[in-house]
Amino acid sequence: MNMKINKLYRTLLFGGDYNPEQWLDRPEVLKNDISLMKEAGVTVVSLGIFAWSSLEPEEDRFDFGWMDQVVERLHGAGISIFLATPSAARPSWLAARYPEVLRVAPDGKRNLFGGRHNHCYSSPVYRNRTALINRKLSEQYGSHPAVLLWHISNEYGGECHCELCQANFRLWLKERYGSLEELNRAWWNSFWSHTISGWEEIHSPVPHGETGSHALVLDWKRFVTHMTVDFMSHEVAALRAGGSTLPVTTNMLPVVEKPGFGPGLDYWKFRDVVDIASWDSYPAWHMPGFAYGGGTGPVDDYRRAAEEAFLHDFYRSLSGGPFILMESTPANVNWAERSKIKKPGMIRLSALNAVAHGANSVQYFQWRKSRGSFEKFHGALVGHDGGSDTRVFRECSGLGALLGTISAAAESLYPAKAAILFNWENWWALDESMGTVNGAGKAYLETLKKHHYALWNLGIQTDILSGDEEESVLNRYRLIVAPMLYLLPRETASRLASFVAGGGMLFCSYQSGYVDEHDLCHESFAPGPLSEVLGLEVEECDALYPGEAVSIKGTSSPVADYQDIIRENCRAEILSVFEGGMGHSRPAVTRNHWGKGSAWYLAGRVDADALDRLYRSISGEAGLESSHEGISFRSPAVSVKKRTEETGVEYLFLLNFSGEPSRVEFDQPVEPFPPAEGAPEVHLKSLELEPYGAEIVRRSPS
Ligand code: GLA
Ligand code: ZN
Repeated sequence: MNMKINKLYRTLLFGGDYNPEQWLDRPEVLKNDISLMKEAGVTVVSLGIFAWSSLEPEEDRFDFGWMDQVVERLHGAGISIFLATPSAARPSWLAARYPEVLRVAPDGKRNLFGGRHNHCYSSPVYRNRTALINRKLSEQYGSHPAVLLWHISNEYGGECHCELCQANFRLWLKERYGSLEELNRAWWNSFWSHTISGWEEIHSPVPHGETGSHALVLDWKRFVTHMTVDFMSHEVAALRAGGSTLPVTTNMLPVVEKPGFGPGLDYWKFRDVVDIASWDSYPAWHMPGFAYGGGTGPVDDYRRAAEEAFLHDFYRSLSGGPFILMESTPANVNWAERSKIKKPGMIRLSALNAVAHGANSVQYFQWRKSRGSFEKFHGALVGHDGGSDTRVFRECSGLGALLGTISAAAESLYPAKAAILFNWENWWALDESMGTVNGAGKAYLETLKKHHYALWNLGIQTDILSGDEEESVLNRYRLIVAPMLYLLPRETASRLASFVAGGGMLFCSYQSGYVDEHDLCHESFAPGPLSEVLGLEVEECDALYPGEAVSIKGTSSPVADYQDIIRENCRAEILSVFEGGMGHSRPAVTRNHWGKGSAWYLAGRVDADALDRLYRSISGEAGLESSHEGISFRSPAVSVKKRTEETGVEYLFLLNFSGEPSRVEFDQPVEPFPPAEGAPEVHLKSLELEPYGAEIVRRSPS
């Protein structure tokens, strides 16, 4: 492990995005920043993210003088730096002189200069210019003692349809398939007379061209991820060429179901290029509807916390250890339909929710509000008044001070013996597929979040898996939950089967095991290559409309959207059957003992109550430990999560996501953490959480 990354594992960092390039004509502001940062307890800033035009105002004229001063000032104040490469937004001279660096939209039109993420990853000019500035930054700051980590670009995302990208796509396909015959076969191109007779005939999927060839769409998405990862590797190579050996990260977006909001990239593929994962978290606290989506659903901050936890779990798993919370807002965002500010306590509570799930930093966008342009009203630690006498600053400083005193928790990890399988290519393929339910009703990600919620709510801590992990990794878990695994290559199925044979418990559901890696249907009944392990075959699947009277027999739990009809030859034990619908009296939930383990199947989409009951019995049978053990609380809005050290010391995070106070009691006395000043021997049998309150206690092994 890189020595510098060790520091990220030993302390809990606190800070945010810092844009001094916006204030270069105001030296007093820059000076004041440092004293305000000290006052707030800031220990790290992300610097230089969109600073290209200040670092290279004209082609080949570099001006690092201002950055030198900022770096020295921060260093003098003991503040560390995540130094960014500036590729997320290009200077206007670059776009004006070399239009090829700008993206081409699906309609074939080249974008004008503007925005960010508006550049072609294939463009040799963009690659050369990026390599040059990265190398220079590396030479200048790559071994500076204040710089801890490279923050590569900013929220990579999007795609380009230019001729250079088309050519790269064809090359990538050539490598993947070897021959046109193979490609035609894998894409099932005899359908609608789509057989391709020359590589140059292949074009990216666009609305005025082809969008209905599922394998083409899937391969294009894979290719866009491949190009982006390749571009990031190119950025890192330039830093290495400049001599820096510092670890790298790139800040990733929230993964959400809202179309057009997410990255459009398979983030799992970044696992090998980042040394530590980081992400930007913007849940809609106190707002109705689903996170990021806006809407009209009820306001439920506890559920919001669970949705957030799913993403924390994902990024921690991608990191393979602690992760960095690179951005969040201390107050409002500026892009929601209507943005609520954080209620008193929420700054600390949301931050500790991240730390509880394995974040070793809490950082904000942004340190200081800009005076102009798009984000001038986005929340910040320092507002337009420029001072520290604000509620937000006070609450943030309180958090900064707290993180400074609980750094001992940084070396603990989030223990999980259950895992949820979230396969990105499956998400894409399922979304594209045309079948039983079309459009938003498929809800793959939402389904994963609902299963995650059922476990999270019971205190069963989970990791997230991609499905590409080696068997030794799968075998770390007692339970793997893999709902709606529509795209299921034989190879993945055989690793899951070995996991079960070795004693693991696997949970699958409707819409599983239909197609292979090319999106070609398996020549069998679903769940295809997992039929044997699950002990059943699905002959048909019926779509359910809202209001259809279908339930799980003996319960009032409704079944929605999907109802599988399982064949009579079912070898699995039938735990419950459907009442109503075409599958009336047929299996709804089954369990098949296989080798030393067992494989469960859920044949219809059920509600939260049914999932709760299901996971209570599954987790009991799997012997999964709950983080609630030895702790009692009445409020349904309290979450208890645990990080543990190798020594067995446990840090319990007690998080109250409601506006009501709540009492928490412990079977065995615990120590407050940080220890009460002047009274290190204090032990607690109970404590009172304030509205939106968050506390940490320590439990030593007995
Ligand atoms: C993203 C970006 C930031 C900023 C924030 C605003 O996460 O990385 O630069 O635009 O959103 O919420
Ligand atoms: Zn391009």
